[in-house]
Amino acid sequence: MSLSGKRILVGVSGGIAIYKTLELLSLLNKAGAETHVVMTESATRFVTPLTFQTMSQHKVYTDLFEESDGFIPHIDLTREADAFLIAPATANVLAKMAHGMADDLLSATALAAHCPVIVAPAMNVVMYQNPATQENLQILEKRGIHVLYPNEGWLACQEVGTGRMPEATELFEALDTFFTEKDLAGTKILVTAGPTKERLDPVRFLTNDSSGKQGVAIARRAQKRGAEVTLVHGDIKVPVPIHVRDIPVESTEDMLEALKKEFPATDVLIMAAAPADFRPVEEQTQKIKGLDDGKVRAFSVLDTPDILRTLAGMKTDQVVIGFATETEKVLEHAREKMEKKQLDFIVANDVTKEGAAFDYDTNIVTILGEEVEKSLPILSKEEVADQILDLLR
Ligand code: CTP
Repeated sequence: MSLSGKRILVGVSGGIAIYKTLELLSLLNKAGAETHVVMTESATRFVTPLTFQTMSQHKVYTDLFEESDGFIPHIDLTREADAFLIAPATANVLAKMAHGMADDLLSATALAAHCPVIVAPAMNVVMYQNPATQENLQILEKRGIHVLYPNEGWLACQEVGTGRMPEATELFEALDTFFTEKDLAGTKILVTAGPTKERLDPVRFLTNDSSGKQGVAIARRAQKRGAEVTLVHGDIKVPVPIHVRDIPVESTEDMLEALKKEFPATDVLIMAAAPADFRPVEEQTQKIKGLDDGKVRAFSVLDTPDILRTLAGMKTDQVVIGFATETEKVLEHAREKMEKKQLDFIVANDVTKEGAAFDYDTNIVTILGEEVEKSLPILSKEEVADQILDLLR
């Protein structure tokens, strides 16, 4: 993960969104980042420094004039940081920053920042829309300060409008993106994820256990690495990442149709979905009724189209990457699939291994290509995603 080992200085000013900052600290620490905190006097009225100290596991700074052993907080804190995030950033803090004022530790630290500065404004909608605030934000952006713009929604002042600070998870994602090298900028990537469903009747269907986690992890990492990503997916158990174009589908045939439209304009297809391999010959329009005890019911099924094979047949200069879900002779079967489906690479997955089955957050794969055979240890699905995406550099 790109946040692991990063040192982030978090500046906290006095706004009700401060509770989200506490959750953010927890997310950052869980991801292996080191956090340090600077608070304004107003912020300490909402939450005590002790609470922040407990979350960050480091001393919290509030005083501009505190100096010990030659460590001058407003100069040295950002010297050692990889980024200075101010969240929440009140209208007052933004105004001070825009005009170079430095009358407390937080604003002095921002003025003396030796590292990139990111602000997450949070305030009442009227304060946010006031031309003074809007112009201050423009000034800050022009000077290279990154702004994580507020969302629209219910505000603590009992009004609806723009001014809500992004949620902790959104701030976390934004920081993670900030620290990720954009080595896939300019690449269009089409990713598939999850199972498809084949309907028997209006309330029943055939499907499989795929969670969509691996495909979603690929989409998330590709987006963070600067690619333009479209995700075509069935029912997935995890959310579609932000800034990823979302195309939900139901059946294997629907997935094929959606992909046929997208494929000519893409540079890469990564087929991590687990499309249902067969479908009932007929879909009943009415709910199938129960039978008397002991009677056998039979359904006829037909194979669904092989999506990869169909798309590989339409290939111009796209890179096509498939997955192989195997339970025996894994590499042999995967290579056969790669050749049969005319793939550039295949990611072989032995689902009998502990830590590699559908619903896990980890995977154990071997990446195969004409001249590639890369056996990877157990990794998180995000790490596996990065290994696959590295093939495209
Ligand atoms: N796949 C596909 N269309 C299907 C079924 C699978 O494009 N109708 C893709 C999967 O997304 C995966 C690759 O083909 O990238 C291999 O899928 P897998 O389930 O391992 O193999 P199958 O092709 O279904 O073959 P088999 O079930 O015989 O192993």
